[in-house]
Amino acid sequence: MDLLDDISNGNADDQGLSLSARLLTWYTAEQRDLPWRKTGDPYAIWVSEVMLQQTQVKTVIPYYERFLNRFPSVEKLGTASLEDVLTIWSGLGYYSRARRMWEGANYLILKLGGKMPRGYDELLQIPGIGDYTAGAIASIAFGQRVAAIDGNVKRVVSRLLAWPEPVETVRSYRHFKDHLMAWQSAQKPGDFNQALMELGAMVCSPTKPDCKGCPLAEVCKGYLQGDFLRYPVKKLKAQRQEVTRLIFVLRKGNRLYIQKRPSKGLLADLWEFPGVELSLGDIHSLQDGLPVITMDDCFEFFKQAVPDRAFDVQVKGQFEKGIEFHGPVWYTFSHRRWKIIWSIIDLSETFRAEPTNASSLREIDEKYWAEPKEVNKLDKQRWVSTNELGLLPLPVAFTAIVESCLTID
Ligand code: ADE
Repeated sequence: MDLLDDISNGNADDQGLSLSARLLTWYTAEQRDLPWRKTGDPYAIWVSEVMLQQTQVKTVIPYYERFLNRFPSVEKLGTASLEDVLTIWSGLGYYSRARRMWEGANYLILKLGGKMPRGYDELLQIPGIGDYTAGAIASIAFGQRVAAIDGNVKRVVSRLLAWPEPVETVRSYRHFKDHLMAWQSAQKPGDFNQALMELGAMVCSPTKPDCKGCPLAEVCKGYLQGDFLRYPVKKLKAQRQEVTRLIFVLRKGNRLYIQKRPSKGLLADLWEFPGVELSLGDIHSLQDGLPVITMDDCFEFFKQAVPDRAFDVQVKGQFEKGIEFHGPVWYTFSHRRWKIIWSIIDLSETFRAEPTNASSLREIDEKYWAEPKEVNKLDKQRWVSTNELGLLPLPVAFTAIVESCLTID
């Protein structure tokens, strides 16, 4: 039996230290001073854990503080509009996390009068809370002895065990959980879990782990074998699909035209400049990295991107004068990467008095649209100034486009 097996079973090593004691001593001395470590409020810990999924600590800190200022309780979060929540989240990415937290808060208001339940099993019932988040909240806020296994923890444990299988499988997850439960400190399960996350972030990094500074090096099979960079073993990844997104920025004076994305799928419910995804067959050639697209094709793409036919005549007129593209900027999702290029289309200010509020929209509906009151178009499309854009949830890649509208005449 080697040292790791021995102390895994809860036994002390020859220096009288268990794995958990080694880890907690290191954590007490080295942990970063982070805002969510100063609270025992399970709601605040929930917010931090959701934000920290896929996002670095230094990016999260200002968002965490702003979010809790604006939505200091489950009640305040659940009774806010989804749009307000997405706006505060804007720039943090992976917006489905914000929507799921908001849904979770609504569930708690309905079922538990806005109170957070105090145990792992009950936390798991909340929509949007999975095994990791339930484990993190229950151990950190309530001192419950449960594991919380995120990407950092998988890397640390796979190296400790020199685990030869892909870490994403259910089998690996169970294997890690069994070991973590055997190692975990009975006194401070929350600190134990956070210490492993901290070790993964600060010491046991993906490509340059600092094994000399690691409190677990002596018991780490990966380190002792000298092949720690082999771990974590990954499954072969499907390549990220790269797609060109062609965007039309309709501009009228200082106002820009935006549409709301559908409630399902990529960037659900966020606002955006209308656009289409081009397939490779749509792009015949490139000039300076930008696609060459015929005027007729471009007009067809415009019609796909903007359902309102009111702009067609002016837009076509602009295309006939020549189409200029800007960009690209890149926007990366987990399975897809957008190469965004855009064209700014100036419409005359006198073209039509576009509504900016619901009552003027109704007047315009009655005057101009064949089927008045059929939909409240403000819900799906708006003309907004660049200042107003800052108040709406807009994918962060679009800020480059907004800036270009301020500088390009
Ligand atoms: N990553 C996920 N949860 C964390 C936490 N509580 N502290 C630091 N990094 C984390």
